Amino acid sequence: MIRDVLRMGDPRLLKVSRPVEAFGTSELVALIADLRDTMRHLNGAGIAAPQIGVDLRVVIFGGGPSPRYPDASAVPDTVLINPTLIPLNGGEEGGWEGCLSVPGLRGWVPRWTQLRYTGFDEYGVPIDRLANGFHARVVQHECDHLDGVLYPARVRDFSRFGFTDVLFPDGSVAADD
Ligand code: NI
Repeated sequence: MIRDVLRMGDPRLLKVSRPVEAFGTSELVALIADLRDTMRHLNGAGIAAPQIGVDLRVVIFGGGPSPRYPDASAVPDTVLINPTLIPLNGGEEGGWEGCLSVPGLRGWVPRWTQLRYTGFDEYGVPIDRLANGFHARVVQHECDHLDGVLYPARVRDFSRFGFTDVLFPDGSVAADD
Protein backbone atom coordinates (compact mmCIF):
# COMPACT_ATOMS: atom_id res chain seq x y z
CA MET A 1 0.00 0.00 0.00
CA ILE A 2 1.30 3.45 -0.91
CA ARG A 3 1.64 5.49 2.27
CA ASP A 4 1.87 9.23 2.87
CA VAL A 5 5.44 10.42 3.34
CA LEU A 6 6.07 12.79 6.24
CA ARG A 7 7.70 16.08 5.28
CA MET A 8 10.43 18.04 7.04
CA GLY A 9 8.95 19.91 9.98
CA ASP A 10 7.14 16.86 11.30
CA PRO A 11 8.71 16.05 14.68
CA ARG A 12 8.46 12.31 13.98
CA LEU A 13 11.29 12.72 11.44
CA LEU A 14 13.62 13.94 14.20
CA LYS A 15 13.27 10.97 16.55
CA VAL A 16 15.73 8.15 17.18
CA SER A 17 13.86 5.02 16.06
CA ARG A 18 13.55 1.78 18.02
CA PRO A 19 15.32 -1.46 17.05
CA VAL A 20 13.23 -4.27 15.55
CA GLU A 21 12.98 -7.13 18.05
CA ALA A 22 11.00 -9.78 16.12
CA PHE A 23 11.78 -10.83 12.54
CA GLY A 24 9.59 -12.54 9.99
CA THR A 25 6.35 -11.26 11.51
CA SER A 26 3.40 -10.42 9.30
CA GLU A 27 3.59 -6.82 10.57
CA LEU A 28 7.22 -6.47 9.52
CA VAL A 29 6.63 -8.08 6.12
CA ALA A 30 3.67 -5.73 5.55
CA LEU A 31 5.79 -2.73 6.55
CA ILE A 32 8.44 -3.70 3.97
CA ALA A 33 5.75 -4.05 1.28
CA ASP A 34 4.39 -0.57 2.11
CA LEU A 35 7.88 0.93 2.02
CA ARG A 36 8.55 -0.69 -1.35
CA ASP A 37 5.21 0.47 -2.82
CA THR A 38 5.77 4.01 -1.58
CA MET A 39 9.39 4.21 -2.75
CA ARG A 40 8.51 2.95 -6.23
CA HIS A 41 5.49 5.25 -6.52
CA LEU A 42 7.71 8.27 -5.79
CA ASN A 43 10.74 7.00 -7.76
CA GLY A 44 12.92 7.14 -4.66
CA ALA A 45 16.32 5.47 -4.34
CA GLY A 46 15.49 4.53 -0.77
CA ILE A 47 13.10 5.14 2.09
CA ALA A 48 13.16 4.71 5.85
CA ALA A 49 10.31 3.56 8.09
CA PRO A 50 10.15 6.85 10.05
CA GLN A 51 9.30 8.62 6.78
CA ILE A 52 5.93 6.85 6.81
CA GLY A 53 5.52 7.41 10.53
CA VAL A 54 6.76 4.02 11.73
CA ASP A 55 9.21 4.28 14.61
CA LEU A 56 11.46 1.32 13.73
CA ARG A 57 15.04 0.92 12.50
CA VAL A 58 14.09 -0.29 9.02
CA VAL A 59 15.25 1.07 5.66
CA ILE A 60 15.01 -0.16 2.10
CA PHE A 61 16.95 1.03 -0.92
CA GLY A 62 17.92 0.02 -4.42
CA GLY A 63 16.03 -0.41 -7.62
CA GLY A 64 18.73 0.81 -9.98
CA PRO A 65 18.53 3.98 -12.05
CA SER A 66 15.24 5.86 -11.66
CA PRO A 67 13.82 9.06 -13.15
CA ARG A 68 15.06 10.89 -10.04
CA TYR A 69 18.52 9.31 -10.11
CA PRO A 70 19.14 8.35 -13.75
CA ASP A 71 22.89 8.09 -13.33
CA ALA A 72 22.81 6.00 -10.20
CA SER A 73 24.99 2.97 -10.54
CA ALA A 74 23.01 -0.12 -9.68
CA VAL A 75 22.39 -0.36 -5.98
CA PRO A 76 21.30 -3.81 -4.78
CA ASP A 77 17.64 -4.07 -3.76
CA THR A 78 18.04 -4.26 -0.01
CA VAL A 79 16.00 -4.47 3.16
CA LEU A 80 18.24 -3.37 6.03
CA ILE A 81 17.11 -3.59 9.64
CA ASN A 82 18.95 -2.52 12.81
CA PRO A 83 21.92 -1.36 10.74
CA THR A 84 25.44 -0.55 11.82
CA LEU A 85 27.69 1.56 9.57
CA ILE A 86 31.46 1.62 9.80
CA PRO A 87 33.58 4.01 7.67
CA LEU A 88 36.54 2.24 6.07
CA ASN A 89 39.10 4.67 4.76
CA GLY A 90 38.34 7.97 6.44
CA GLY A 91 37.65 9.58 3.09
CA GLU A 92 34.69 11.81 2.25
CA GLU A 93 33.20 12.97 -0.99
CA GLY A 94 30.37 15.32 -1.84
CA GLY A 95 27.34 14.54 -3.93
CA TRP A 96 23.87 15.86 -4.65
CA GLU A 97 21.06 14.44 -2.54
CA GLY A 98 17.33 14.83 -2.40
CA CYS A 99 14.84 13.31 -0.02
CA LEU A 100 11.21 12.28 -0.32
CA SER A 101 10.62 14.16 2.96
CA VAL A 102 12.20 17.35 1.55
CA PRO A 103 10.45 17.59 -1.83
CA GLY A 104 11.68 19.97 -4.49
CA LEU A 105 15.14 20.60 -3.02
CA ARG A 106 18.66 19.32 -3.49
CA GLY A 107 21.79 19.73 -1.43
CA TRP A 108 25.47 18.90 -1.77
CA VAL A 109 26.28 16.52 1.07
CA PRO A 110 29.63 15.10 2.16
CA ARG A 111 29.51 11.38 2.93
CA TRP A 112 32.01 8.62 3.69
CA THR A 113 33.32 7.28 0.41
CA GLN A 114 33.56 3.69 1.58
CA LEU A 115 31.92 1.80 4.38
CA ARG A 116 30.95 -1.55 5.76
CA TYR A 117 27.34 -2.05 6.77
CA THR A 118 25.76 -4.83 8.74
CA GLY A 119 22.22 -5.61 9.83
CA PHE A 120 19.43 -8.03 9.02
CA ASP A 121 16.76 -8.52 6.41
CA GLU A 122 13.09 -8.88 7.33
CA TYR A 123 13.54 -12.59 8.09
CA GLY A 124 16.53 -12.04 10.37
CA VAL A 125 19.14 -13.13 7.82
CA PRO A 126 22.39 -11.26 8.54
CA ILE A 127 23.70 -8.74 6.00
CA ASP A 128 27.37 -7.76 5.88
CA ARG A 129 28.52 -5.69 2.89
CA LEU A 130 31.07 -3.23 1.65
CA ALA A 131 29.80 -0.21 -0.28
CA ASN A 132 31.20 2.78 -2.10
CA GLY A 133 29.97 5.46 -4.47
CA PHE A 134 26.24 6.02 -4.77
CA HIS A 135 25.52 2.78 -2.90
CA ALA A 136 27.46 4.09 0.13
CA ARG A 137 25.70 7.46 -0.13
CA VAL A 138 22.22 5.93 -0.17
CA VAL A 139 22.95 3.71 2.84
CA GLN A 140 24.19 6.69 4.86
CA HIS A 141 21.25 8.89 3.84
CA GLU A 142 18.65 6.26 4.72
CA CYS A 143 20.26 5.20 7.99
CA ASP A 144 20.50 8.86 9.05
CA HIS A 145 16.68 8.87 9.04
CA LEU A 146 16.77 6.25 11.83
CA ASP A 147 18.61 8.74 14.03
CA GLY A 148 16.34 11.64 13.16
CA VAL A 149 18.86 13.29 10.80
CA LEU A 150 17.67 14.81 7.52
CA TYR A 151 20.28 15.58 4.85
CA PRO A 152 19.96 19.40 5.15
CA ALA A 153 21.58 19.04 8.58
CA ARG A 154 24.67 17.64 6.78
CA VAL A 155 24.96 20.44 4.22
CA ARG A 156 28.06 22.58 4.85
CA ASP A 157 28.07 24.82 1.76
CA PHE A 158 24.69 26.51 1.57
CA SER A 159 25.46 27.90 -1.90
CA ARG A 160 24.78 24.32 -2.95
CA PHE A 161 21.44 23.82 -1.23
CA GLY A 162 18.20 24.96 -2.81
CA PHE A 163 15.28 24.28 -5.07
CA THR A 164 16.09 21.75 -7.75
CA ASP A 165 14.70 23.81 -10.62
CA VAL A 166 16.69 26.88 -9.50
CA LEU A 167 19.95 25.00 -8.98
CA PHE A 168 19.54 23.07 -12.24
CA PRO A 169 17.53 25.24 -14.65
CA ASP A 170 18.69 23.06 -17.55
CA GLY A 171 17.02 20.07 -15.96
CA SER A 172 20.33 18.22 -15.57
CA VAL A 173 19.01 16.87 -12.29
CA ALA A 174 15.41 15.68 -12.42
CA ALA A 175 13.07 18.03 -10.56
CA ASP A 176 10.17 15.67 -10.35
CA ASP A 177 10.12 14.95 -6.65
NI1 NI B 1 15.53 10.81 2.78
